[in-house]
Amino acid sequence: MTRLAGKTALITGAARGIGLAFAKAYLAEGARVAFADIDIARARQAAADLGPDALAVEMDVTRQESIDAAVATTVAAFGQIDILVNNAAIFTAAPIVEITRADYARCFEINVAGTLFTLQAVARHMIEAGVQGRIINMASQAGRRGEPLVAVYCATKAAIISLTQSAGLNLIRHGINVNAISPGVVDGEHWDGVDAFFAKYENKAPGQKKAEVGAGVPFGRMGVPEDLTGMAVFLASDEARYIVAQTYNVDGGQWMS
Ligand SMILES: NC(=O)c1ccc[n+]([C@@H]2O[C@H](COP(=O)([O-])OP(=O)(O)OC[C@H]3O[C@@H](n4cnc5c(N)ncnc54)[C@H](O)[C@@H]3O)[C@@H](O)[C@H]2O)c1
Repeated sequence: MTRLAGKTALITGAARGIGLAFAKAYLAEGARVAFADIDIARARQAAADLGPDALAVEMDVTRQESIDAAVATTVAAFGQIDILVNNAAIFTAAPIVEITRADYARCFEINVAGTLFTLQAVARHMIEAGVQGRIINMASQAGRRGEPLVAVYCATKAAIISLTQSAGLNLIRHGINVNAISPGVVDGEHWDGVDAFFAKYENKAPGQKKAEVGAGVPFGRMGVPEDLTGMAVFLASDEARYIVAQTYNVDGGQWMS
């Protein structure tokens, strides 16, 4: 399959989970992929054995010099960046009366500022290089509706939907399409952490929250990262050229919008 042949993608948070699945799907479609992650050891491990089109790049989306260096490294290795996936994020949860400023600041710094300033750096490169690029942000069903114990994370994901709209409207004049994917509940290490939070705050047994949310998905189970790769490839491809500033639910029927 070669829907992304000749394209280069930079994917943040590609060392594991959804970002890793996207990276493998893009490689399979003929793209060259920078696996960018703060966990460089794991990014190297993930990119190893995938051939010369897979490059591990150290990147901390909270530090501007790290963002700029990751963009420069990718451009030096592959010539230009055609596709950016803003996937790196963290989860946090607490009752309203227990939220700390430190937790709030960290979550917004990684999830929102990290997305915005990575998008900005790559958009500047795309405009300068004349690239008709694609930028895909990772939202969440958590951004569609608040949740009692998840105020901060939900707010960061609502911000991603809004940023996708503004950036999409601003950058399409340069031929850069900005859109987002909104997953529901996707099994993996991220959700192991979520499950542990709910075990603590709702007195659930380990694994119980996962089982409950899985049973509640109209499709009948939690998602796996590979359930999202079709949308990620489509939005990165030429077939999505007329799609601007949208957020797509890929969630087994969880959310209607
Ligand atoms: N898993 C789900 O159920 C789910 C649901 C909705 C949305 N999402 C979103 O999808 C995306 C991927 O989720 P996932 O489950 O694969 O998460 P994950 O926690 O498994 O992976 C996140 C990756 O981001 C990296 N990362 C963290 N901080 C970073 C930083 N400062 N700079 C660079 N990299 C950093 C981590 O090292 C990790 O490799 C996230 O944006 C998440 O919010 C996930």
